[in-house]
Amino acid sequence: MKAPIAVALDAPDLETAARWATLVTPHVSTVKVGLELYLRYGPDVVASVRGASGVQVFLDLKLHDIPATVAGAARAVSRLKPAYLTVHAAGGSAMIRAAAEAAPNTRIAAVTVLTSLAEEDLTSLGLAGPALDAVRRLSALAVEAGASALVCSPMEAAAVRAEVGPEVILITPGVRPHGAATQDQARVATPEQALAAGADLLVIGRPITAAPDPGAAAAGIAAALRRTGGAA
Ligand code: C5P
Repeated sequence: MKAPIAVALDAPDLETAARWATLVTPHVSTVKVGLELYLRYGPDVVASVRGASGVQVFLDLKLHDIPATVAGAARAVSRLKPAYLTVHAAGGSAMIRAAAEAAPNTRIAAVTVLTSLAEEDLTSLGLAGPALDAVRRLSALAVEAGASALVCSPMEAAAVRAEVGPEVILITPGVRPHGAATQDQARVATPEQALAAGADLLVIGRPITAAPDPGAAAAGIAAALRRTGGAA
């Protein structure tokens, strides 16, 4: 059983990303390719990290544009067969629907409110009020428009789950095993806490990729999750 973890392959180059992917794929369900790697190496990066393993690829491109442009972009990447593709929920219903229709075999994962935004940033963007209200509103809108996954903080997962029901896949970054360095993540949860809050897929980067042995680090977190009943 592979653990419900998406390892963030935030690598400086393609060789490193592919090596990390090879090391972790025996233990985790998914690897995540972000904008930096995709823009530097192009679509071939997906085949490089997938290798022969058939691991699920999470393409974290956070698309946000007019519906026709996002539809075209989603169609373009759907031939790479990513399991997940991110879009910004703030792009609105028509944009999310366009992405979902253009990539029917990929789960469209909507990013609600970037966790890098503080309450005062939201106010200056015209999204006054508690951030959680915006997260709930955007979650409901995205699911209604055809997103079958949502990206949210582990702190928001329980409220989002209550808002959207059991079917939607909740993806949470900001996850740190007990005792791991938090790096630049401000509010973190352990893998067990994130699953207990309702997360389905945990995005974990540096606690695995910066470990001396990324394969062993992934195996350790996967084993801890199995002990608490969290295997996929
Ligand atoms: O290394 P770390 O575990 O912090 O990596 C987390 C990954 O999740 C990074 O790829 C980061 O860009 C992404 N992410 C995040 N917080 C969000 C959304 C995405 O940390 N709110």
